Amino acid sequence: MSAAKSALPRSQALKLLRAAAQVSRNAHAPYSAFQVGAALLTDTGAVISGCNVENASYGLTICAERNAIFHAVAVKKRKFKAVAIVASGKQMPFPCGACRQVLAEFGSPEMVVLVAPRAKLADYMELTLGELLPHSFKF
Ligand code: THU
Repeated sequence: MSAAKSALPRSQALKLLRAAAQVSRNAHAPYSAFQVGAALLTDTGAVISGCNVENASYGLTICAERNAIFHAVAVKKRKFKAVAIVASGKQMPFPCGACRQVLAEFGSPEMVVLVAPRAKLADYMELTLGELLPHSFKF
């Protein structure tokens, strides 16, 4: 029996994950030493990325996913097919609740979310935004 059909072909997924891994290297994370990168794939095939930027006043820290979304909006991209999230460390870097809600502002429940530890991109997990945040808040 063949494996379940992936929403994003593996070669495309790995390309997006590599973009997220690359931008994670630019993180400003002197407090946590946890570097995160997020790469958004737009409906037109563009890739827009962001990294986490920490602050000495900890609460002002911004996550990679939100930085990527805000970056995209600033360059007039608002429709996304997928996001890849990569971080240093061994765990799967699932997006925090705040970032899920911000992704849901622009992404549909079908939007593909790829997560992988930077050292093991090939072991990525593929989810949808709807799986990560069912019943998102809408105004
Ligand atoms: N972080 C992200 O960039 N994305 C998340 O979804 C969760 C956490 C960052 C924020 C902070 O710089 C570091 O990871 C540790 O929490």
